Amino acid sequence: MEVTQAQLDAHWMPFTANRQFKKDPRMIHEADGRYYKDADGRKVFDGLSGLWTCGLGHNVSKINEAITSQLSTLDMSPSFQFGHPKSFQLAERITDFSPEELNRVFFTCSGSEAVETALKIARAYWRKKNMPSKSKLIGRVKGYHGVNFGGISVGGIGANRAIFGETLTVDHLRHTMLESNVFTRGQPEEGADLAEELLELIGLHDASNIAAVIVEPMPGSAGVIPPPVGYLNRLREICTQHNILLIFDEVICGFGRLGAKSGADAFGVTPDIMTIAKQVTNGVIPMGAAIVRQEIYDAFMDTDAPEYMLEFPHGYTYSAHPVACAAGLATLDVIEDEDMLGRVRNISPYFESLLHGLQNCPHVTDIRNYGLAGGITLEHYPGEPARRPYEVAMKMWEKGFYVRYGADTIQLAPAFTVEETEIDNLVNALADCLSR
Ligand SMILES: Cc1ncc(COP(=O)(O)O)c(C=O)c1O
Repeated sequence: MEVTQAQLDAHWMPFTANRQFKKDPRMIHEADGRYYKDADGRKVFDGLSGLWTCGLGHNVSKINEAITSQLSTLDMSPSFQFGHPKSFQLAERITDFSPEELNRVFFTCSGSEAVETALKIARAYWRKKNMPSKSKLIGRVKGYHGVNFGGISVGGIGANRAIFGETLTVDHLRHTMLESNVFTRGQPEEGADLAEELLELIGLHDASNIAAVIVEPMPGSAGVIPPPVGYLNRLREICTQHNILLIFDEVICGFGRLGAKSGADAFGVTPDIMTIAKQVTNGVIPMGAAIVRQEIYDAFMDTDAPEYMLEFPHGYTYSAHPVACAAGLATLDVIEDEDMLGRVRNISPYFESLLHGLQNCPHVTDIRNYGLAGGITLEHYPGEPARRPYEVAMKMWEKGFYVRYGADTIQLAPAFTVEETEIDNLVNALADCLSR
């Protein structure tokens, strides 16, 4: 299937070096299981499960069948003021994957929209509670919360904010990557005290002005940064003491990547709101959601306004799209029926030991992991922090492996069904690319 230069030019690609790509396109034509095929039929191992999305692998028959059957039953229905059964069924199933207290689900079409929704819910919640001054949002350096204005405001990746001018007025906690924790396997022991910085921000802004703190339980896009032991617990304590909502952005952590239902489950800390996306439909159909504690939902429902009035003027045309809901239900069935969380827990020690075997490869300055997620930090070329990971990822593609590169890191997130031999191959290929 040829693509002309005019066709290449017509598509302004997202988070892509367009000029470079269009000179030397890397086209993917097919996907099955844990492999892609390029134009020549060459197999490429999917080392990032799509974009942290396809933990069950590609072309999963149960998901495909659910989508096909949904298309011929109800292909689209209006999401405002009307419902279809699958959204309610899926909402309940999603709450089974969430901490017990979080039992109300607001559907969106992406992770970015889930974050915007969560931030808007947080601000509106305090207004509903007659505390309108509680509007400031606190994010964290190195956080990634999608690309909409709220998300880049609380996000902590400078390159994603720099050219867009004014954002919301927010403040940021420090990130949790400590020099003393390099090459830690799993959660680092040191660093829980970094959560105390929230007290400083509260001292500066006053809790009466702060709506919410948002963090990823384990930042993924910044290169896989497991939280120090006790850090999230301390954030939780401080938020509770000061009446501030805690939002966990679970867009990467949710539905199995960490060998648990969520980051909240893996690290034993319950937030007030969670955002999810990606793995909820195995990435096959776009979908996201914000999941909230019942008391937050109730604050919106507890109103004297007439019942025909909206309680929350927010939503998307494609919220709870029936085809996405069908994909979500089938995905959660496969995760449960095939014990995917158990599979991740069983294989992740092997992944961890192989990954950390790269410690002595040239240019490697840190390796981090949790569940089936791994991040490798590479030494900079002078003044060009992003170049070496890009070069390594391109060499990997040539060798038949797709991995993600972002800033100064290489990121790995194989499918939950990955075999030990595939981890061997992936890590050996990386070792080879780093050595050259
Ligand atoms: C933690 C987190 N939040 C939000 C997003 C944004 O999701 P989307 O790209 O679906 O908008 C991502 C995407 O990688 C993410 O990792």
